[in-house]
Amino acid sequence: MTKRRSIIAGNWKMYKTVSEAEDYAVRFLEEVKNVTELDIILCAPFTALYPLKTELEESVVHLGAQNMSWADQGAYTGEISAQMLLDVACTYVILGHSERRELFGETNEEVAKKVQKALATGLKPILCVGENLNIREEGKAAERVQAQVSHALSGLSTEELGRMVIAYEPIWAIGTGKTASSQDAQEMCATIRATLTGLMGEAAEQVPILYGGSVKAENIAELLAERDINGALVGGASLDPLSFAKLIHNAAYLGVCAEGTE
Ligand code: 13P
Repeated sequence: MTKRRSIIAGNWKMYKTVSEAEDYAVRFLEEVKNVTELDIILCAPFTALYPLKTELEESVVHLGAQNMSWADQGAYTGEISAQMLLDVACTYVILGHSERRELFGETNEEVAKKVQKALATGLKPILCVGENLNIREEGKAAERVQAQVSHALSGLSTEELGRMVIAYEPIWAIGTGKTASSQDAQEMCATIRATLTGLMGEAAEQVPILYGGSVKAENIAELLAERDINGALVGGASLDPLSFAKLIHNAAYLGVCAEGTE
């Protein structure tokens, strides 16, 4: 089987003003404009999305947001709707990131409502799941991640499931410099794939599953070599345009080499 096309997504989190984002886009595009072997996504803060829409138009880089509301519109102070994201040319939206779950109390139920809304409006959700260190040490990591996936995806049709991207991000590996070993990451991504297979049968093979947590230019190749890891969601290492471009070139090179080998 040919290896699935990879996705490398940067999650800037709460970094970069409009002028910083514009400057990044110019420098980044210069480095990645000829990369066609994989899909590149930049998930920027809300305020940078509109300026990036102009900068990234007609380029190989797709635009994503980091959160959105489950509501269409109305009296929801401080929220941003799916329609607003489509309006600024977003095609992806990160949903259920562990920072939203842990710091802002987002529940599995809210994440599920957001996933449904994103799919209904034509956005592609990047659903984040992952366990904290206590849960891993208790040996309950797989159980936790399976529950998060099942909750978020319950009731979706096979066609809708086919438009999902899942990101496995163990909380203990985020921003800590402690990457999960590629074997541990693969094991959990295979568990996620099995859960998807239970929901949608063989079509689960086509759903991209990303790994996130201290991914860098130096470890991307090893992670992508694993069967069920189809890309990465990158935080810290996506903030500098040149080092993120280097990571992408390492991933693209591996993608070319791996083609047709599985
Ligand atoms: P780091 O790459 O900084 O560990 O962050 C990962 C992450 O949370 C991406 O969403």
